[in-house]
Amino acid sequence: MVEETRGIEQQAPVLELKGLSKSFGGLRAVQGVNLRVFPGDRKAIIGPNGAGKTTLFNVVTGVLPATSGQVLLFGQDVRTWPSHRRAALGMARTFQITSLFPKLTVLDNVLLAIKGLRKSKYVMWRSLSSYRDVHEKARHLLESAGYWDRNEVEVRNLSHGEQRQIEIILGLASDPKILLLDEPAAGLSSGESREMAEFLKRLDPGLAILLIEHDMDVVFDFAEHISVLHFGEVVEEGATESIRRSGKVQEIYLGTG
Ligand SMILES: Nc1ncnc2c1ncn2[C@@H]1O[C@H](COP(=O)(O)OP(=O)(O)OP(=O)(O)O)[C@@H](O)[C@H]1O
Ligand SMILES: [Mg+2]
Repeated sequence: MVEETRGIEQQAPVLELKGLSKSFGGLRAVQGVNLRVFPGDRKAIIGPNGAGKTTLFNVVTGVLPATSGQVLLFGQDVRTWPSHRRAALGMARTFQITSLFPKLTVLDNVLLAIKGLRKSKYVMWRSLSSYRDVHEKARHLLESAGYWDRNEVEVRNLSHGEQRQIEIILGLASDPKILLLDEPAAGLSSGESREMAEFLKRLDPGLAILLIEHDMDVVFDFAEHISVLHFGEVVEEGATESIRRSGKVQEIYLGTG
């Protein structure tokens, strides 16, 4: 019975985009994008600079209003919802590097991120039981991400690659069901990028992840499915292996497409 129920749940997409478009004046940055993301999916969106990848995320997360189309989150059309309401329903995107407090420890950064989400955020450490609750949650997040042994390290003493991983952990504080990552490996060395891919693969298998990334090693290592965006349109999509071999994708990346 339990198995049966779970099976049915897995049929429902976490996120579905239908004909999603965004124009800036005459520039059609995103055009008629259709995409379905199911629980635990590991999907990537690739495409050359200016293809519309970040704009797509901005429209999906509510940072920018869509021009037309639908954004369905658990079946509800959230297209006109502000970002915070979408977040409350289970959507998260990574924070920018500035959201980390470099002189605080890893643990304190996570505690503050969790505390910031709670209703009692203006009454810091209101009661011991609420503190314990927040601390337990922080410990759980850090343990599952493999950082508990470094919880007392000041963030500024971590490598750049590790700091980017901590940002992702902060994004998990709201218990998202879908996580949108815009170039998590940008600016990382090739070794750090490899570690980022390993880190992403270790995250909760039930969490759906949508990744924008230029580093193809990270994309091919992490994603099971890839959508290729070109001038705002999905020009090709499919299993990672088929996209890797696609002549069209190679043409687009070589600039002859
Ligand atoms: N706020 C905006 N106002 C006007 N034009 C914009 C705005 N944001 C993006 N654009 C334009 O929309 C197009 C898509 O940009 P976007 O940043 O989404 O591309 P991208 O695929 O994320 O590129 P990159 O790989 O370089 O990050 C570009 O032509 C860009 O100049
Ligand atoms: Mg971008």
